[in-house]
Amino acid sequence: MDKFRIRGGRKLRGRVQIGGAKNSALPCIAAALLTGESVTLHNVPYVRDIITQGRLLEDLGAQVLRPELRTHKISAANIEIFEAPYDLVKTMRASVLVLGPLLARFGKAKVSLPGGCAIGTRPIDLHLEALKHLGAQVSLEAGYVVARAPHRGRLQGGEVNFDKVTVTGTENVLMAATLAEGKTVINNAAREPEIADLAELLNRMGARVRGAGSPTITIDGVEHLGAAEHTIIPDRIETGTFLCAAAITDGELELKDCRPEHSAIVIAKLREAGVEIEEVNQSTLHVRCCAEGLTARDVVTEPHPRFPTDMQAQYMALMTQAAGVSRITETIFENRFMHASEMQRMGADISISGNTATVRGVTRLMGARVQASDLRASACLVLAGLVAEGETVVERVYHIDRGYEKIEAKLRAVGAEIERVRESVTAQLPPAAEVGVS
Ligand code: EPZ
Repeated sequence: MDKFRIRGGRKLRGRVQIGGAKNSALPCIAAALLTGESVTLHNVPYVRDIITQGRLLEDLGAQVLRPELRTHKISAANIEIFEAPYDLVKTMRASVLVLGPLLARFGKAKVSLPGGCAIGTRPIDLHLEALKHLGAQVSLEAGYVVARAPHRGRLQGGEVNFDKVTVTGTENVLMAATLAEGKTVINNAAREPEIADLAELLNRMGARVRGAGSPTITIDGVEHLGAAEHTIIPDRIETGTFLCAAAITDGELELKDCRPEHSAIVIAKLREAGVEIEEVNQSTLHVRCCAEGLTARDVVTEPHPRFPTDMQAQYMALMTQAAGVSRITETIFENRFMHASEMQRMGADISISGNTATVRGVTRLMGARVQASDLRASACLVLAGLVAEGETVVERVYHIDRGYEKIEAKLRAVGAEIERVRESVTAQLPPAAEVGVS
């Protein structure tokens, strides 16, 4: 398995191009199942989860072409299989996003329950309850969700009230509702920018979605959806990660092709902590640390538009270099502090009580061999390695490859001393040619 070898102490300086949002591309790829016509997606990040999602669609019978590395041209005209298998879903839970589209277009779907992952049990009970409100019959058989639309194979519009905000739950039922008979209202919908991006694609395909990005989404079902072309929004979590990278190394970066408005709460929190961030224009951020250094600031993770859980680990790394005590409270996932124990091995002063981590800074971090446990924990350890004294080896970086495109190349281009140590062929992303880039 690949590792990153990092020598800390370098101040990052230069320009970083932000890629497309993994968590928007994943539902948008699944949305292509809603039509037999061609759906073209641009600015799709070349990361492992996207390759996995594309392969799932191909296993179902769709054609997925990549005329360029970050462009997907998908045609789901010949879907012959309606099942997302366990061995795939357990590696990437976002594959449950094929459930809503398959059920809506074909009246049937069989999707493995995803099982838990490093950060939590990750149930999909809310997805299933929501689909039942659209008339779906749902049963659990040998670890699989078996869903049917009993009314002539078509879902019926209805009212969905989510007890808890769920991003992919909102996305699954939003996609299903586009082809349901009649009107659907989704209450307590997730408000993440990726929801609005998915709705924009669906409306380009001929859907009638209103209110995406607000807590209430209304969908008037249509008979068919058609071809569309769409550009995926920039990745707000990659943006936040590089904002932290500039701040933690006392460097200065310009982030291009980002969307500052999607990172408003992260920018506000970092500014409170002493990071100087200028919104140069609608797609460019300029960031550097203030002369006085960083100040500890508390944060609580909550659904958008509050502070994102996907930035919690990166923020924790930054707070080890901030003067004072910060309390980081994780309210979304039950087990998302695993990076803390690896940070402690680097000398960080972090104590955990329940769902709150208390970080005391400023601590000198010392390079060490550390192990990544999940996608965002990996990013946290890379950030720590950038500021630690000596060498840090981050193991199991296949986690980071799931959601960051060539992060070591982007960091090296702005002065980081980081290299990928390839441990085996299997752990690497397939060469572009192998994934059908013509
Ligand atoms: C999405 O996961 C993101 N993944 C996650 O990003 C992100 O951390 C999460 O939303 C929260 O923002 C994608 O978009 C592909 P949820 P999702 O359903 O949809 C509970 C990353 O690092 N819940 O909003 O799976 C759940 O256990 C990944 O890019 C239920 O109880 O998250 C959690 O506690 C990690 N029942 C909370 O709700 C359900 O049916 C929020 O989960 C669904 C969720």
